[in-house]
Amino acid sequence: MTDATVPATQAETPTPQAQQEKIELNRREFLNLAWLASLGFLTLSIGGVAVLFGMPRFREGEFGGTFTFGPVSDLPGTDVAPANFPKVKLWLSNDPEGVTALYKVCPHLGCLYAWNDQEFKFICPCHGSQYEHDGDYISGPAPRSLDKFVITIEDENGNVLATTPEDGGPVRLPDNPNAIIRIDTGTKILGETHT
Ligand code: FES
Repeated sequence: MTDATVPATQAETPTPQAQQEKIELNRREFLNLAWLASLGFLTLSIGGVAVLFGMPRFREGEFGGTFTFGPVSDLPGTDVAPANFPKVKLWLSNDPEGVTALYKVCPHLGCLYAWNDQEFKFICPCHGSQYEHDGDYISGPAPRSLDKFVITIEDENGNVLATTPEDGGPVRLPDNPNAIIRIDTGTKILGETHT
């Protein structure tokens, strides 16, 4: 019998060994593809996380970011209520010793204290803690003076003229009336505890 007479079904049927090799090959291809897909997914995930971490968490002017006030000549006087900035949760207080950015939340149990013009001090409506114009503790159950944000004062060219000392004390105003105040509402210094 010549090749031409071999039945087609018999000629095309692969041997069990060939079938096994084909299955192995398909399995290997599948595993390679799966591995490449996982690698691609991992690379995209790492890239996405890196981009997210590279982005600023808070935008300028938002609570948690940097709030800019200026020029310093626009500050309220030392004998009037501190400037109120509810959106960024701060009072900007101008005193003879310098300027202080006070966090609006009472250090007792977290209420929002308020300025009282008649008594010329801050009073918390929840349990009555009281604080001076510059945030110093006066009386009440609060364990410490008001918390402060870190301030940097810069000239028109971005040169730093003054910054908040480590204890959160007031920042003395420079002579330059055009200087601006940058307040980092993401960095808080706890108020001084009292006995
Ligand atoms: S929360 Fe302000 S005194 Fe209690």
